[in-house]
Amino acid sequence: MFDVHKIREDFPILKREVNGKPLVYFDNAATSQTPQVVIDTIVDYYSNYNANIHRGVHTLSQEATDAYEVARKKVQQHFNAKHSHEIILTSGTTHSINIIATGFTHFLAEGDEIIVSALEHHSNIVPWQMLCDRTGAVLKVIPMNEEGELLMDVYDTLLSDKTKLVFTNHISNALGTINPIEEIIEKAHSVGAAVLIDGAQSCPHVKPDVQALDVDFYVASAHKLCGPTGVGMLYGKSEWLEKLPPYQGGGEMIEQVTFEKTTYAGLPHKFEAGTPNICGGIAFGAALDYMNAIGFDNIAAYEKELLDYGTKKLLEIEGLKIYGTSQNKTSVISFNLENIHPYDVGTIVDKLGIAVRTGHHCAQPIMDFYKIPGTVRASFSFYNTKEEIDALVEAVKRAKMMLS
Ligand code: ALA
Repeated sequence: MFDVHKIREDFPILKREVNGKPLVYFDNAATSQTPQVVIDTIVDYYSNYNANIHRGVHTLSQEATDAYEVARKKVQQHFNAKHSHEIILTSGTTHSINIIATGFTHFLAEGDEIIVSALEHHSNIVPWQMLCDRTGAVLKVIPMNEEGELLMDVYDTLLSDKTKLVFTNHISNALGTINPIEEIIEKAHSVGAAVLIDGAQSCPHVKPDVQALDVDFYVASAHKLCGPTGVGMLYGKSEWLEKLPPYQGGGEMIEQVTFEKTTYAGLPHKFEAGTPNICGGIAFGAALDYMNAIGFDNIAAYEKELLDYGTKKLLEIEGLKIYGTSQNKTSVISFNLENIHPYDVGTIVDKLGIAVRTGHHCAQPIMDFYKIPGTVRASFSFYNTKEEIDALVEAVKRAKMMLS
């Protein structure tokens, strides 16, 4: 039984006040809050078995190594990867994308084509532009419509035997649109292109099955789904990860080092040079356990209720426009008040204890499409309530009164 009030008890931060008002945290697409069980996991690690992993025979090192590898298995099971060595633990989505973008330098030639979507976060644009600069490959973009949906008929025309890679987010961070990734993957494969899906925004809401999707690479960050910052994952099909060169050289990623020649470790260690975020990885596993115990079906159903309620209530404010109106979207509402800068709205609602993100959301091309400097973005999580949405609506009305 999904009980939001019981769930809220798990999050100590939700009890605090901001500017003398109860905190209303609606910046979940930027980072989620942390339940006590994840905080306890972090405290337990540093209190009881803090040690480097894969390196020592001593007890603490063994315990930390075991816990880290258990966490990798949890990530594997959550994303339904076939093998645990197909899960690389990284510092986050951006790191994961850069491992692939750098590795593909060796596989692309001048004139090859890479397709990205118009809905991308900068972290899924800039690494590919850098890859194009290094290789002479050409970046093509699947355009979007006014609702914030990708134009799939144009995608069809962009695909050809020159297409080597296709990248898109699963869900847009700025608008909340859920992209038709099954179709994107299938069509890319039909021309022999590899596909990377950025799951940073989808993972808090849905449980992806990488084998069912038949995706080549899937990436995500722990901090969007109740885990800590500084840790994330890269799933890659074994055959790709075997072929790709390491991203960084260092300890742990080697098999044998001499001054003449170095051979690399097998997967996943080939991509895990240096001491990783050990505690973060273990806490990532704890966060997945926590979210799975609540259940992603329950989370999706409840967040849809919040989205519908929030959309209806906000649209009752005259002059408020929502950007991203696809029927297929998650609990993100990006909006502006006529002629009022989003920063001004964000500042006033913060004074009333409400956290929203304002600006371009690291997705400037989307803002350029709508010819706006940015939006106010309220992103809801399963621990938010309709009463909090009412507080946002009142705060936005107040901002409107003060600023118009
Ligand atoms: N990508 C994060 C966001 O959308 C930081 O806010």
